[in-house]
Amino acid sequence: MEDFRERKRRGERITALTAYDYPTARLLDESGIDIILVGDSLGMVVLGYSDTTQVTFEEMLHHTRAVARGVKRALLVADLSIGTYDTPAAAVKSAQRLLAAGAQAVKLEGGLSHAAQIEAIVREKIPLMAHIGMLPQSVREEGGYKVKGRSAAEAERLLADAAAVEKAGAFSVVLEIVAPETARQITAGIGIPTIGIGSGNDCDGQILVTHDLIGLYPWFTPKFVSPEAQVAEEIRRAARIFAERTRDSSRRGSSSG
Ligand code: KIV
Repeated sequence: MEDFRERKRRGERITALTAYDYPTARLLDESGIDIILVGDSLGMVVLGYSDTTQVTFEEMLHHTRAVARGVKRALLVADLSIGTYDTPAAAVKSAQRLLAAGAQAVKLEGGLSHAAQIEAIVREKIPLMAHIGMLPQSVREEGGYKVKGRSAAEAERLLADAAAVEKAGAFSVVLEIVAPETARQITAGIGIPTIGIGSGNDCDGQILVTHDLIGLYPWFTPKFVSPEAQVAEEIRRAARIFAERTRDSSRRGSSSG
């Protein structure tokens, strides 16, 4: 984990993407991505839930095991899903279960409010990635995915959150949909790397939901994502060609195989 602080000091950017299954994890690992996250975004882009609040811990464990089989080189981080880290003792127990499923580090949402959980996890020598800014597990209370840290008061709170998670022992912190100027100030103000998502270019690294990056969830793409592929279109095209080939060959009375 010291390596990540060192990379920040050297100004080397950190790359992170999500994976939820074996082939994606293996492909990302082979592509040289530094951190592979089994995010609870799993709930939306793989399981078809409306948000991450419906993801169960059993689902996180199941997908972490699949991803772990595909990762040889990258750091494998898994999300503590909602309701699994309400107390320090629960947080430690849940983190240990993710490690037993193959994760090397865990992530939880919250800053100052969750310093005790972070300290408890780190005390057990489990590397912890923090997550502040827009917190998807609180989307219902928040009433949507809104930019954080625009006002001076919110920026102050986020700076305090970032300092608290660093003090509690986190090795890095995700900044989700944080106003770029606030993300820049946080990045300059702490010694652990900030990994931004929708938070501008001045973070120490960037993370995206892989489905957004590769165009595999075409029904919704966050504004801040520039997809690098259109995999959904490729799937539709291949399925259409297969269907046409099958229907044509059955009309001719032969097999499509
Ligand atoms: O669940 C997730 O994929 C995440 C990233 C978006 C940071 O938490």
